[in-house]
Amino acid sequence: MQRLSIDLGERSYEILIGSGLRKRAGEFLKAVFNPSRVVIITHPSINSLYGKEVVANFKDQGWTTDVIEVPEGESSKNLGQAEKLYDRLLELNCDRKSVLVALGGGVIGDLVGFVAATYQRGIPFIQMPTTLLSQVDSSVGGKTAVNHPKGKNMIGAFYQPRLVLADLETLRTLPSNEYRAGLAEIVKYGVISDAKLFEFLETQYKEILNLDQQCLSYIIETSCAIKAEVVEKDEWESHYRMILNFGHTLGHAIESLTNYSRFIHGEAVAIGMVRAAALSQSMGKCSEDVPRRLEALLKNLGLPVEMPELDSSAVIESLYHDKKTMDHKIKFILVKEIGSIEIVDQISEAEIIKVL
Ligand code: NAD
Ligand code: GLY
Repeated sequence: MQRLSIDLGERSYEILIGSGLRKRAGEFLKAVFNPSRVVIITHPSINSLYGKEVVANFKDQGWTTDVIEVPEGESSKNLGQAEKLYDRLLELNCDRKSVLVALGGGVIGDLVGFVAATYQRGIPFIQMPTTLLSQVDSSVGGKTAVNHPKGKNMIGAFYQPRLVLADLETLRTLPSNEYRAGLAEIVKYGVISDAKLFEFLETQYKEILNLDQQCLSYIIETSCAIKAEVVEKDEWESHYRMILNFGHTLGHAIESLTNYSRFIHGEAVAIGMVRAAALSQSMGKCSEDVPRRLEALLKNLGLPVEMPELDSSAVIESLYHDKKTMDHKIKFILVKEIGSIEIVDQISEAEIIKVL
């Protein structure tokens, strides 16, 4: 088992990564917190795969444990669903010593984190991420949110979990497109900060696609370590944390302009990263080697790289709605070389249109 810590003063916590951790969740939770009761929040399918053993494990510690099911999908990440959860938590008499357990991917993690941040002005929660994306990204760093009809993640809070338990075994049941989408985020960490990780992905992609446990352990731990370091430096995203947004600026626009139905998040990010690298090259920030290697790696990982047919002015319009856009200036994360990036505060529309 790998043990990382994220140092945020009194909001510090550990990220544990390994096989079979779900079967020891009670023991790990007890080491950080002794709750009055435990409420696991998950999707029906994840409950039927893993719920029983996680519940049994918490009950073994003597804690009253309940499970609340939330329907699958992005459409569950809304205020209506949060309200249903508040109702259930009140019925169960949950108090500030109760702990919520987010057992699932980023949808569950973001929703449960938001409910934990707001129920009775904040109660403890832990993340048990079961998708690759949530293990390397959304479960770490404390961004919690629900969607608003006018935009994704528009209502939320920075609120850190008490513990993250990433059980590698749960990835075996993950659909392969969801697995590859998580790999896109790992490629992102290589580009923004770790050339060695990027080279590892280039040489070991076959083993990684076969879920080789040693490879998985290395790439997940390295990704979490990079994310932890970034969050430690800029927890509230005043500037530096935006580097985690490499590929996401265009990725979000692609997702939104294709009505969130053609690409899942990591796929849109893959396309966004290739375009961001092309933009970097066209602005003279990097050599043509960077977009070439990035595109080749993403293709080897089975991810899309071609920009869909979209109206350029609609893409530009969408970029102005990005949460990172301030003072009507489109921010972009550009790459200088693999492992090194630059945040550029103002990019002209013409520069962007050139690479769309
Ligand atoms: P998801 O949570 O919707 O999970 C994808 C699908 O996989 C779901 O149908 C889920 O039921 C299923 N699933 C999950 N684990 C499984 C398993 N082990 N076996 C079988 N099926 C399983 O999607 P996601 O990609 O994990 O998360 C996407 C969400 O994360 C988005 O809402 C996005 O906004 C958010 N996000 C948040 C952050 C953050 O920092 N908070 C970062 C990135 C993404
Ligand atoms: N997923 C980007 C961040 O946590 O900042």
